[in-house]
Amino acid sequence: MNRPTLPSRRTSTRYLSVDDIVGIVQRKGLVPCLQGLADAIERDFRRWPMFDASARVASHSEVGVIELMPISDGRHYSFKYVNGHPGNGQHSLPTVMAFGLLAEVATGLPLLLSELTLTTALRTAATSVVAARALARPGSRVMAVIGNGAQSEFQCLAFHHLLGIDTVRLFDIDADATHKLASHLALQRPPGSLKVERCHSAAHAVQGADIVTTLTADKACATIVTADLLAPGMHLNAVGGDCPGKTELAPGVLQAARVFVEFEPQTRLEGDLQQMPPDFPVTELWRVLCGQASGRLSASDVTVFDSVGFALEDFSALSFMRDCADELGLTRTLSLIPELDHPKDLFAMLNPLAPRRQRQAA
Ligand SMILES: NC(=O)c1ccc[n+]([C@@H]2O[C@H](COP(=O)([O-])OP(=O)(O)OC[C@H]3O[C@@H](n4cnc5c(N)ncnc54)[C@H](O)[C@@H]3O)[C@@H](O)[C@H]2O)c1
Repeated sequence: MNRPTLPSRRTSTRYLSVDDIVGIVQRKGLVPCLQGLADAIERDFRRWPMFDASARVASHSEVGVIELMPISDGRHYSFKYVNGHPGNGQHSLPTVMAFGLLAEVATGLPLLLSELTLTTALRTAATSVVAARALARPGSRVMAVIGNGAQSEFQCLAFHHLLGIDTVRLFDIDADATHKLASHLALQRPPGSLKVERCHSAAHAVQGADIVTTLTADKACATIVTADLLAPGMHLNAVGGDCPGKTELAPGVLQAARVFVEFEPQTRLEGDLQQMPPDFPVTELWRVLCGQASGRLSASDVTVFDSVGFALEDFSALSFMRDCADELGLTRTLSLIPELDHPKDLFAMLNPLAPRRQRQAA
């Protein structure tokens, strides 16, 4: 772990709203943002031992989960608040909503409070690409995308622009979701650069695919991909099975594959891996990225990235968005922490005659 840096004096916390993140993506461009995030995530995965990794803290209910995802590299600390409620559409809310915070370890001062719903979709797609770059067969061109909801455009575009996928084969049990995704992808320029094929089932979508991305949301042990659908050399980017009792891959798929995970203790509880015995072999992705472990061993290996989302990816994303905000001059702050004349005189803030600075930080 790093040594904490010197404490900063100012107590104001930088704030990045939904509009700010939209502005960053629009001004920098979606592809440079995805590329920047993928680079930041890969850099942080490569310095994995510097982080105090821990599984997230989850609060489950019958309809979903609310999770806190903390991590620190000894210099900065971050956490994300995120939920997963597959039935949220009936309340006109997204399945996944998030915000997060970056703080300095030296003092505990919160440095940045940021939206993370949009950022989670960006960082999840970027992480999937980092894994696929290390694990998928070079020259992969066709990707099946099963589950065409909120995350799906980000995954399709990240794989198209950063990995060279030129054809996506879409399936969702909700035809409107597929229509939405196909309409967004049709705006890609030059026209036809990303071929979009609508499929009538998961089995149909998987046909001829080099990469299979599963992005479904159902609070159930679903079986989206079964072993009979696998082809030699396929890479599976399994994103939607990310919670106890919520899976997408049949156990036979994992048995037939080399399986890679973010943080093993968390994925054993939350990933498709939850269906396998405790000694089922897996490899943490950071070891492959650092050259400590092999990825695929042959062109015919089936590889699975059993993605559940790990706190390190949000740490990287918060740091990336903070740097973008610096670059673009976004300087809005929030008064979260009191600014005191005397650090032991908190009570003075309640004095109605006290100078304004004591009652409210800048
Ligand atoms: N691993 C990660 O880091 C990470 C990050 C973000 C989201 N997620 C997970 O990814 C999944 C997708 O998230 P989202 O925000 O796109 O959700 P969403 O609700 O917007 O979309 C999910 C889609 O899956 C479809 N679906 C459900 N069951 C299906 C089935 N059997 N076959 C085909 N389609 C099916 C739904 O109709 C819906 O369109 C969720 O489970 C979420 O928890 C994982």
